[in-house]
Amino acid sequence: MIKTIPLWIAGVLLLLQAIQVEIPKPSFVDIENEINPPKEIMAMLKISCYDCHSYQTKMPWYGHIAPFSWSVRNHINKGRNWLNFQEWDGYDEEKKQKIYKGIAETISYSMPMPMYLSFHDEAKLTQKERNRIKKWAQNNIKDENE
Ligand code: HEC
Repeated sequence: MIKTIPLWIAGVLLLLQAIQVEIPKPSFVDIENEINPPKEIMAMLKISCYDCHSYQTKMPWYGHIAPFSWSVRNHINKGRNWLNFQEWDGYDEEKKQKIYKGIAETISYSMPMPMYLSFHDEAKLTQKERNRIKKWAQNNIKDENE
């Protein structure tokens, strides 16, 4: 009985692979809709945010293996729903303002997600880079009293 435990575990893990979270594929991506910030900002967004906030997701190997893939794929779906830099021009002004405010608030610590950063050294931002992004977002926030 004891000896078959590893087999049971392997069997369960194998079965889990049948359950995958789908990431919807758009039939058409309009490149005209992409956000167009200064070059240096764009470069940072592409490296640090695009995996979850665009259609250009580079799926990591663990994104194919349940149960990790469930969490990875949920993050991608949620991230894209909240903010997809490639859908930018389709957003109304209110949504854009909400996003700029969200970026200014989250860029110092919670975005990109810390968990993601522990697997993605290349996406890490220095404090200076975070400040650049923050400033850019803040400059785009319109004063409500104007
Ligand atoms: C590993 C995936 C991932 C990466 C990488 C990532 N995000 Fe996110 N982001 C998410 C998810 C998931 C949510 C939705 C969180 C929720 O539903 O609570 C989110 C939400 C947000 C929000 C809204 C947060 C709020 O509560 O106001 C902003 C703004 C944001 N991300 C900006 C960024 C920026 C800027 C980057 C790059 C510097 C980035 N994200 C990188 C997954 C990611």
